[in-house]
Amino acid sequence: MDFEHSEQQQLIRAMVREFAQREVAPIAKAIDKSGEFPLATVKKMAQLGLLGMVVPPEYGGSGTDTVSYAIAIEELSRICASHGVIVSVNNSLACWPILHYGTEEQKQRYLVPMAKGEELGAYALTEPAAGSDAAKQKATAVLDGDSWLLNGNKIFITCGGAAQTYVLFAMTEPAKRYKGITAFIVPRDVDGLTVGTEEEKMGIRATATTEIFLSNVRIPKENVLGEVGQGFKVAMNTLNGGRIGIAAQALGIAQGCLDEAVAYAKVREAFGKTLGQMQAIQWMLADIATDVEVSRLLTYRAAWHEDTGADYIMSSAMAKLFAAEACVTAARKAVQIYGGYGYSKDYPVERFYRDSKITEIYEGTNEIQRVVIAGQLGLR
Ligand code: CAA
Repeated sequence: MDFEHSEQQQLIRAMVREFAQREVAPIAKAIDKSGEFPLATVKKMAQLGLLGMVVPPEYGGSGTDTVSYAIAIEELSRICASHGVIVSVNNSLACWPILHYGTEEQKQRYLVPMAKGEELGAYALTEPAAGSDAAKQKATAVLDGDSWLLNGNKIFITCGGAAQTYVLFAMTEPAKRYKGITAFIVPRDVDGLTVGTEEEKMGIRATATTEIFLSNVRIPKENVLGEVGQGFKVAMNTLNGGRIGIAAQALGIAQGCLDEAVAYAKVREAFGKTLGQMQAIQWMLADIATDVEVSRLLTYRAAWHEDTGADYIMSSAMAKLFAAEACVTAARKAVQIYGGYGYSKDYPVERFYRDSKITEIYEGTNEIQRVVIAGQLGLR
């Protein structure tokens, strides 16, 4: 067993860390406040190849392995969780399903520009009454001649307001329940599609998260992604990889909390010594550091499973579950160590605390990860 990263993985970490410090750190606080989608830095991330990491070069991507992809998201999220999830959504939820289920024509038309970062993609599964219970899709698609007519609405679509293309799910045969769901590639500029206003969120505030309304949206047959009726499988298999991205995001936020809290504990004094000299604080930091390492091992292991062709349903669910819980705990403790300053927006730990919470919710709540793990243990 070898725990060392390859030379390429180390280079990617160094490159993304340097980029995050130089380009993202100066704007992280401002975009958290304004909620503005960071288009300028997203373009720079595209130039670095970060938006199509999991896509081979022949389709416009940089063709790295999944471990490198996790490292990149970790390093971005250590500084700004919004940047981390923007990279994750484009790679895992938009590029990946088209790479794996798309026709050659779909890859040329939609995947290539997304992998290059010339266009952005988003993943439209969630509906007002279909969150954790994703199979309960109310959006419908009805075949009408050579095209499908789509109606319904999707909510909480990360990057929905910035994307040009949606991987979108709709019910084509309700009687078949989850086997009646179909995936579609839906361009944003089609008639009848409206993008709602951006959600005012607690954290990851710069991700242009929106609702999408579909009113008699006509989509050509050629835009069905995979087979008709195969959509739930497309959705689930896509999320298995997406969960590695969110685990990496949680890992990065937790590492950011650890960095900040250790630095503060070394200089802040109370009762004649630094906080770091107090055992209560040492134990909190030791626990955060241990949780960060476990998150890292689980996240890289799930990524390695994907890279080596092993099954990663369980390992990605475990990585996301553990890393998300560890991240929220790390952020809460980091705020506690900072005391009153931690509650102030002047220090990043306040933002990290708000950003951390979403990792326990999106791409499957903690409870859903446990459902997935229980299923893999043969208990469902
Ligand atoms: N991977 C592959 N296949 C899976 C799977 C997985 N993780 N989970 C379920 N399946 C398969 C099952 O094997 C089964 O297949 P067969 O027909 O071959 O037997 C089929 O899907 C149906 O499975 P279930 O009977 O378990 O389905 P269910 O309806 O009871 O529940 C669920 C399944 C696991 C709870 C699923 O609904 C789920 O994962 N829900 C969470 C949805 C989610 O993560 N949403 C996130 C929204 S996207 C988002 O947040 C993105 C963003 O903007 C950042």
